[in-house]
Amino acid sequence: MISFSCKSRLKEDSKIDKLVQQMTLEEKIGQMNQVMNFIDTMPIDPYFYNLIQEGKIGSVLNAYSPEMIKEMQRIAVEESRLGIPLLVGRDVIHGYRTIFPVNIGLAATFNTELVKEIAKIAAIEARSEGVNWTFAPMMDISRDPRWGRMVESCGEDPYVAEQMAIASIRGFQGKNGFNSNSIAATAKHYVGYGAAIGGRDYNTTLIPEAELRNVYLRPFKAAVNENVATVMAGFNELNGVPTSGNIHTIRDILKNEWGFKGFVVSDWASIKNLEVHAYAKDSSDATIKALQAGVDMDMCSLYYLDKIKELVLKGSLSEELIDDAVRRILKIKFELGLFENPYANKDNKLITEQALDIAKKAVIQSTVLLQNKNKILPLSKDINKVAVIGPLADAPYEQMGTWVFDGKSENTVTPLKALREYLGNKKINYAPGLKISRTRDKKAFADAIKAAKNSDVVLLFMGDESILTGEAHCRAKLTLPGYQNELITEISKLGKPTVLVIMSGIIHMIEPYLEQVDALLYGWHPGTMGGPGYVDLLFGLESPSGKLPMTFPRTEGQIPIYYNHNNTGHPASDESWVRMYDIPLKAWQTSLGNTNHYLDYGFEPLFEFGFGLSYTEFNYSDIKLSKETISLDDSLIITARIKNIGGFKAEDVAQLYIRDLVGDIVRPVKELKGFQRISLNPGEEKIVEFILYPKDLEFHNGKKWLIEPGDFHVWIGNSSKATLMSKFELK
Ligand code: NOJ
Repeated sequence: MISFSCKSRLKEDSKIDKLVQQMTLEEKIGQMNQVMNFIDTMPIDPYFYNLIQEGKIGSVLNAYSPEMIKEMQRIAVEESRLGIPLLVGRDVIHGYRTIFPVNIGLAATFNTELVKEIAKIAAIEARSEGVNWTFAPMMDISRDPRWGRMVESCGEDPYVAEQMAIASIRGFQGKNGFNSNSIAATAKHYVGYGAAIGGRDYNTTLIPEAELRNVYLRPFKAAVNENVATVMAGFNELNGVPTSGNIHTIRDILKNEWGFKGFVVSDWASIKNLEVHAYAKDSSDATIKALQAGVDMDMCSLYYLDKIKELVLKGSLSEELIDDAVRRILKIKFELGLFENPYANKDNKLITEQALDIAKKAVIQSTVLLQNKNKILPLSKDINKVAVIGPLADAPYEQMGTWVFDGKSENTVTPLKALREYLGNKKINYAPGLKISRTRDKKAFADAIKAAKNSDVVLLFMGDESILTGEAHCRAKLTLPGYQNELITEISKLGKPTVLVIMSGIIHMIEPYLEQVDALLYGWHPGTMGGPGYVDLLFGLESPSGKLPMTFPRTEGQIPIYYNHNNTGHPASDESWVRMYDIPLKAWQTSLGNTNHYLDYGFEPLFEFGFGLSYTEFNYSDIKLSKETISLDDSLIITARIKNIGGFKAEDVAQLYIRDLVGDIVRPVKELKGFQRISLNPGEEKIVEFILYPKDLEFHNGKKWLIEPGDFHVWIGNSSKATLMSKFELK
């Protein structure tokens, strides 16, 4: 027996009631159907035209042009019997026309205010062309850099994903309801998609209930609390049941337990995929399973359109279930104000000065400085000659990253262009060395080497084309593709001061490059303002302040590796790690000890979660707690002193971690519970303050939520290796 309900009295209930009463079963089913028109030219092709006119489409996605959107909306509003407007969905993922850094880069800013501003700009730009619904934010936890979609995620930490999800939803939708500048957001992909085995997209996921609740569901719960309009069911199978037909996660948890009042859309043909998964025997079975699970709108399978009527007439599906789905969809249409104004907001402008400033700020705050030998950075503007080398130095399209349907190369400022503007063309020796990232010949190496020899400093812009990251674009080997390694090696032999900037959506295995270059900036795919943002960092107009939202492994074999792991019964330490090459012949079986490490690569990553250097140094001291013991109705204030002890004005991200020492189930060795950006002048100090509530210490044991009394450790610092520690007890 399925229990479902959207029956609580909502603001729009009477309007919805009135409309639903007038609707035929076919018209209701039409609202539950989302399709893409594959014919990219106007006028709208007749098949598609008729479907809209007959009320058989409730939403369109990824339409080709604003003209097409306008015409489709006009047909729905003026020519369909009930004039119900369309939801116009689109993948507006990290910007619309102004493209911001890819989402993993935005997570590296650890700046929720900035992320909110970015979503707001994206919404304004999208609405200016008639889009009223985005398939963002993506909130999949991603602990595997082989998974190409890590680029769209916030990385490995549920707290970061949750905070960024809240910020994005506020930016897209507005805090207090929609207006003509906001768009509906989508919490996706529900749920566990990032745990794909082997990091291969669409792969099976196996997640125990406690882990599902404590890690993967957390950002979705926060999104529901933030009134996210829609949730997208995923492609993945979770513990044997595909997530687009999963009663436990959608019907039971999302709708019944959390009381989600928006609607659930499938992912692209993920209802049809229930058959491919071998979870449904045919299209009727897939339709029943998806709808009973709680998927309200069918993206592109066309199964709802084809099958629901027959199944209702046969008695295999109740019309009540259909009404529930339709009411949810209409509710969002009413809330968005589409019945009053379904069209584009023509007052909105694309690519404003303000949008570009924010885009540049996002590049500056997302770029992570991972190495700066001999303080080679920042460079002086008085430098004579700079060699600019690498396939990403002047690749305007590629630096925008994945999912940029609306970004344009002509709006994009590359590193080469920005450097020419800043230093003057005469100072630049440009020689890419490789045509694209995957070039596997050395034909242009000689020019690059010559350019480097004739320069005082070498800037290498290496990475990936955008198509090498994102959906279905996973990698088993995470070194830079093509002959980029060879080019870095040749350049490093010259002994020139060398800075490597990596422009990619994914994490590469960069350990070898740290030996070969002086400084390394991880710049992600930076979007429209990549060039100007990098120039400010390279020449010290700003200090880097990005922090890693995902652990950087030393080698692929360490994956998955993440900071918030459990301890095991055999934790490794530096002392316990026996290095493979130190082991004598015929060493006795137990002589190496028994701890949780690799003989060849140990147990530590290359760079830990939360890490990122600056042009200055920060000293953290004086951690203080307002109490040593707190009770369930108490709160705890934790403070620390942060001092800028270097000579450069800069921002740092103060991070609060805790450890629950003993639990009903084993608890992670560290968990992030707060972060704050702090700006400090040289010599300046500030007290940073965090508040913890007992609720923040809650966890799920697989059966229920618990807040357990006991001892806790707490740290404040600027990475997950923070050592400034104190203790408290929950009574
Ligand atoms: C499939 C992707 O998984 C999803 O993220 C996206 O929003 C839809 N396609 C629509 O393009």
